[in-house]
Amino acid sequence: MCGIIGYAGCRPAVPVVTEGLHRLEYRGYDSAGVAFVRDRSFCVIRAKGRLSALEEKLAAVQTATSTCAMGHTRWATHGVPAERNAHPHCSNDNSLAIVHNGIIENFQELKAELAEKGYVFHSETDTEVLVNLIAECRKDEPELLRAFAAALRRAHGAYAVCLMERNAPDTFYAARMSAPLIFGVGTGENFAASDIPAFLHYTRKVIFLDDGDIVQATAKEYNMFRLEDLEPVAHEPQTVLWDMQAAQKSGYKHYMLKEIFEQPRVMTEALAGRISEQGDTVLLPELDNLPAPARLYIVACGTSWHSALWGRHLLEDWARVPVQVELASEFRHRDNFLFKKDEMVLVISQSGETADTLAALRIAKERGATVIGLCNVIGSSIAREAAAVLYTRAGPEISVASTKAMCSQMLMLALLALYWQARRHNPDESSRCPPRRQWISALVSLPPMLGDALSAMHETARRLSRKYAQARNFFYLGRGHCFPLALEGALKLKELSYIHAEGYAAGEMKHGPIALIDSAFPTFAIALDDPLFPKTKSNIMEVQARQGKVIALTNGETDLAADDVWTIPRLPSPLAGFVVLPALQLFSYEMADYLGKDVDQPRNLAKSVTVE
Ligand code: AGP
Repeated sequence: MCGIIGYAGCRPAVPVVTEGLHRLEYRGYDSAGVAFVRDRSFCVIRAKGRLSALEEKLAAVQTATSTCAMGHTRWATHGVPAERNAHPHCSNDNSLAIVHNGIIENFQELKAELAEKGYVFHSETDTEVLVNLIAECRKDEPELLRAFAAALRRAHGAYAVCLMERNAPDTFYAARMSAPLIFGVGTGENFAASDIPAFLHYTRKVIFLDDGDIVQATAKEYNMFRLEDLEPVAHEPQTVLWDMQAAQKSGYKHYMLKEIFEQPRVMTEALAGRISEQGDTVLLPELDNLPAPARLYIVACGTSWHSALWGRHLLEDWARVPVQVELASEFRHRDNFLFKKDEMVLVISQSGETADTLAALRIAKERGATVIGLCNVIGSSIAREAAAVLYTRAGPEISVASTKAMCSQMLMLALLALYWQARRHNPDESSRCPPRRQWISALVSLPPMLGDALSAMHETARRLSRKYAQARNFFYLGRGHCFPLALEGALKLKELSYIHAEGYAAGEMKHGPIALIDSAFPTFAIALDDPLFPKTKSNIMEVQARQGKVIALTNGETDLAADDVWTIPRLPSPLAGFVVLPALQLFSYEMADYLGKDVDQPRNLAKSVTVE
């Protein structure tokens, strides 16, 4: 997630802005930049890499006279990490400069329109298109506020932007749509930033801007308007009582909890620009030059392997692609793997640096396979070495335990299944291909649905974790697409609370593991209201017959007689996994927090296992 900051005040602006960027570093970035006006011209300083590289460049520039500036840390989404893609971006006539967090979904169409009018582009970013669109709108609307609004009304997608013009060096504009932007009200100075830490040192008076707000600010005043008609809007400032560290967690106690609650926004970002305007086609241009595979191997580790196991169901059911899922650490030692021409390997890795997964990628390439990547970190080793890469756009995952990354991986696998379904679709299978538009619509409705459900789920997770906190062992059971989720639930519990937990295919219990069940060995059974429910219900009864306690996670009117029935919002199978997953994450989070464990940095774990 990029970080932006705008400042107008009484101090030298550039140090305020660069300090603000440091406070936003936790959001992750691969380049940075600042812009200010000096002698009626923009001075734009950008650097790839860490902020220190930017500050080194700034040291050689006279910046002290400027009391208005803006800055940006870039988490690349469009265009590789490089200075030319770093923000701020200027309009062709250098009259405007902009910094942007988010994704303009229709930027290609806008770019073509502007190119027709003679605009040239020096970067691969959607941001450079936006700033030139504003310049173009200014030909009809000389007042910048109106031109800014006109351009934003044409931009579809998510944005938090700050904008400056060289003829008004003491003024900045800001606007937000589906991306965070907070306004800081100081004394003789004003701020806009992606997050409160950027300016918390200067003011605790904040205004949480709403989607569709547009702001014009100087040192002494600010005015807010509604984007659609520029009617004035008034927001009462609030006072933030957080300390700096709490502010970087947006007030959540741990990064893990923040990242669990970020999942609705992560899904929105993953979907952005990947569904046609008509809502019936998935757009994955990264793969357009590659044929849909006749068979797919998915290779990963840990939570990413669980995503792969879950995604197999959709790829086989929706795209009719046979899938074989492999643990990277095992796959790389199997010498007999030879790939046919129409077979493909997908490697999944949040970090893009996991040693076993990277090794598996290299081995598969050596053996003739086409290898594609599903990664979160732009420009990571796996992203660079794969023939093509899909990015999950989950933003940096700070907590060692993977949460939002898995959610974004699952969403991308669902999109991939629908994308290949369309590519492989042939009439004789039409009866078995589900209605794509229906599933796309269901995916689009996920973020608001989950956003509404998370708080209640958190309360239930908190209550149940206290009730079962004495357990030293746990079974997690699931069938079908819930089996991978049972594996993930068990992994979360053991890696966070250090309670031994085993994820099992529910049908496997009777083949031995049930010998372990007694009153001190509870079971977390995922028993959704789907065709497999009757069989899972029998498994629950088998456990109870041996005095085992059961938490049954369900999503419908199921006549379950478990010790605790946890009912979550219903979604059509297999999308129900997008609600099951956060429930399991929250249960493990609350258990670990209650037991006083180091939630964000569990013992013995690393965020990216770059050793074999
Ligand atoms: C899960 O909570 C762990 N962080 C771990 O299993 C992780 O998923 C695994 O190491 C794979 O990491 P990757 O996705 O970055 O390759």
